[in-house]
Amino acid sequence: PAGPAAGAAAEGRRVRPEELRSHAWYGTDGLRAFSHRARTRQLGYLPEEHLGKPVVAVLNTWSDINPCHRHLRERAEAVKRGVWQAGGFPLEFPVATLSETFQKPTPMLYRNLLAMETEELLRSYPVDGAVLMGGCDKTTPALLMGAASAGLPAVFVPAGPMLRGHWRGETLGSGTDMWKYWDERRAGRLGDRELDELEGGLARSPGQCMTMGTASTMTACAEALGVTVPGASSIPAVDSGHDRMAAAAGLLAVDLVWRDLRLPQLLTREAFEDAVTTALALGGSTNAVIHLVAMAGRVGVKLGLDDFDALARRVPVLANIRPGGAYLMEDFHYAGGLPGLLARLGEAGLLHLDRPTAAHTSLREQLAGALVHDDDVIRTTGDPLAEEGGIAVLRGNLAPDGAVIKHIAADPRLLTHTGPAVVFDDYQELQARIDDPALGITPDSVLVLRGSGPLGGPGMPEYGMLPIPAALLKEGVQDMVRLSDARMSGTSYGACVLHIAPESHVGGPLALVRTGDLITLDVPARLLRLEVDDAELGRRRAALRLPPARYGRGYGSLYQEHITQADTGCDFDFLARPGQVPDPCAG
Ligand code: FES
Ligand code: MG
Repeated sequence: PAGPAAGAAAEGRRVRPEELRSHAWYGTDGLRAFSHRARTRQLGYLPEEHLGKPVVAVLNTWSDINPCHRHLRERAEAVKRGVWQAGGFPLEFPVATLSETFQKPTPMLYRNLLAMETEELLRSYPVDGAVLMGGCDKTTPALLMGAASAGLPAVFVPAGPMLRGHWRGETLGSGTDMWKYWDERRAGRLGDRELDELEGGLARSPGQCMTMGTASTMTACAEALGVTVPGASSIPAVDSGHDRMAAAAGLLAVDLVWRDLRLPQLLTREAFEDAVTTALALGGSTNAVIHLVAMAGRVGVKLGLDDFDALARRVPVLANIRPGGAYLMEDFHYAGGLPGLLARLGEAGLLHLDRPTAAHTSLREQLAGALVHDDDVIRTTGDPLAEEGGIAVLRGNLAPDGAVIKHIAADPRLLTHTGPAVVFDDYQELQARIDDPALGITPDSVLVLRGSGPLGGPGMPEYGMLPIPAALLKEGVQDMVRLSDARMSGTSYGACVLHIAPESHVGGPLALVRTGDLITLDVPARLLRLEVDDAELGRRRAALRLPPARYGRGYGSLYQEHITQADTGCDFDFLARPGQVPDPCAG
């Protein structure tokens, strides 16, 4: 990496204060530095409190609208405590909040916006290193993508999972049990009083979803990548250990600056392989496929769908966490957490143990002494929850650029299935018509939703767990084959084929399907096929009219001009490519 500190790491010494990036703002003898020093005094700091010290930006995604990050406002104080203790100078920056439960049409529309904000804040201010605070779904990849492109030393602080949910003596998982009880409601088995109680019991503390949803999958990936304090990702948000972890992140960030160990140096191909392995062993969210591909793209690491499929064939699912398993993140933490799981993967030869992490010279050293205290929550490789990783990549004439299915969360009987399609052109039509008896939906039907991809959604919303018609729910049908170009919440389940690429909105073959066509899903053969001959598909393609552009201005317009498809991670093309960016201090 370039910059004034570039020599230090190569020479095996620590960075000198005058080599700090922030020195260009504060330490020089010009009018600008005079002004920066004066304005820092205006902030209330003595010169000796900050001059010559690493400036650590604390990027905080706290907001009143984000229940998963409710504790981060106060947690930032622990991070700053750590930075001060290590002799650094912390500055907190509020950045965009992507609140999964509130933001419409979907926070995925804004992942790249937070990534851009992160990158440009770190670049344009006097920052030597960063602590990135987040955890709710897209927040983790967004912060890491932006910080990776900025190229500074950075530590990620996971928001941490909320406590277990409770209702009438039952343990509830956020997301997962919300879907389950809403189906009970639709089937007429749940009254108003029960619903009211459930609203109070589903999510009862600050923190991210405590099932193995996208949030806990991605924060675990961050830890596996080696960019957190060891053990950080499983600590419950409200545990005092979370405060201590936050302080440790502040200490670590300052140390990384003096060592000039920058984020891209840790984000290697080996690190990404280990992150994929971790997501698979956790039975993690399918969203990890999109996010990890996008994150790898920021540092020039080639990671594709086939890497996931290849690793999935040899990585067993060890974490017994809902929706694929029985327990919740709180149980996982007490059972040994991610260090325990990683230690088991390492013993089985499934990780690259010799690569460095932010906190240790090797992952092996980081995992030394990690224990598992409950073999039912974190299984041994000899007694896994599933022999193969939870995600399979499908291809065929319906998904030339791939599609994914989380097959451990599906009814095994449906994994090889041929049935007639029932097609919905968009989510509104699906909502309006799914319970219409005139559609003649049977348990063998294949429900197809299109118009829900990166452009069609827009933002590729989590519509992929299409609802089962109420009449079938009442008959006890719990799973059906469902297909879409959408994503699915990590807390969802079912035989749902997702991320079909290219999406229908840009003319992918999904746009050509008609109700009544036979569709074959064959997960063991990794196949997704529309049983219609090429001549007929050619006629349909010739008649196809693509929908007009949706946005005439603003961020949506930028989005629709630059978003890439699911198989390449849905980054913006101009963010994913390498290229020159001028030094903001020059001139
Ligand atoms: Fe924020 Fe699930 S809604 S992590
Ligand atoms: Mg989610």
